[in-house]
Amino acid sequence: MTVFSCNELIKQYKLPDHVITAVNRVSFSVNKGEFVAIMGESGSGKSTLLHLCAGLDTPASGSVTLLGKSLFQMKPNELCRFRGKHMGIVFQDHRLVPYLTALENILLPLSAAGRDIANHEERLKHLVDRLSLGDRLHHLPRELSGGQQQRVALARALIHFPMILFADEPTGNLDRESADRVSSLLCELQKEEGTAQATVVVTHDERLAARADRVFLMKEGELSPLR
Ligand SMILES: Nc1ncnc2c1ncn2[C@@H]1O[C@H](COP(=O)(O)OP(=O)(O)OP(=O)(O)O)[C@@H](O)[C@H]1O
Ligand SMILES: [Mg+2]
Repeated sequence: MTVFSCNELIKQYKLPDHVITAVNRVSFSVNKGEFVAIMGESGSGKSTLLHLCAGLDTPASGSVTLLGKSLFQMKPNELCRFRGKHMGIVFQDHRLVPYLTALENILLPLSAAGRDIANHEERLKHLVDRLSLGDRLHHLPRELSGGQQQRVALARALIHFPMILFADEPTGNLDRESADRVSSLLCELQKEEGTAQATVVVTHDERLAARADRVFLMKEGELSPLR
C-alpha cells in the first residue's frame, strides 16, 4: 500500500546571474512500512527534496501526496496540523528549540497538538532508552553534544508514531557504534505491528543505506534508483 508519493517535483533557486535547479522532475513513492534511503553528493539536492516531501517548502511544479491527501492543496493551518500528526522530521541541523530541555523538545509534537503525554509514556521510555538519552533529558540543547542533539531530534520526530519519518542525515554526527544503534532502531520501528512507519532517510552512511529496502541516488537534482 502506497502511503507517500511525489510526482515531477521541480525546485529552482533563482540567483542574480543564474538559476540552480536543485530538484529536477523527481518522482517516487513509498509503501507502508518501507525504508527508503537517498544518497548523493553534497549539493545534489537531497535536503531540498526532503523539505518538499515534508511540505516545508513549495515546488515550482509537481505534487506530494501523503495518505491520499495532496499537501500543496491544503491551507497552511491544515498542512501544519496534518504534518504534525502524520510526519516525523529530522533536520540536517537538528533545529531543537534552544530554550526547551531535551525532554520538552522530545514531547513537542504532543504538546503542540494538545495530545495526552501520559498516553505516550511507554513510547518515550522506549525511545529514550534506545537512544541512550536517559541522563540528558533535563539539559538544554546547548549543553548537549552534536550527537546527543541529533538523537533528541530523532526522538522528537518519532514520539507521536508518525506514518512517515523524513530524516536528513540522522547518523551524521554519530560514532560508528551510536550510528549502528540508531540504524537498528529505525529498522525495528518500521516493522512494528500496527504502527509500521515508512521512512525516507537522506544519508552518506553506507551502513545505514545497506539496511534500506530501496536506495536512490540524487545527482544534480535528479533522482534515480540505485538498488
Ligand atoms: N536557499 C537557497 N538559495 C539558493 N540556493 C540554494 C538554497 N538552498 C539550497 N541551494 C542550492 O541548491 C543545491 C542543493 O542543495 P541541498 O542543500 O538540497 O543539497 P544536499 O544534497 O542536501 O547537500 P548536503 O549533502 O551538503 O547536505 C545546492 O547547489 C545549494 O547550493
Ligand atoms: Mg543536505
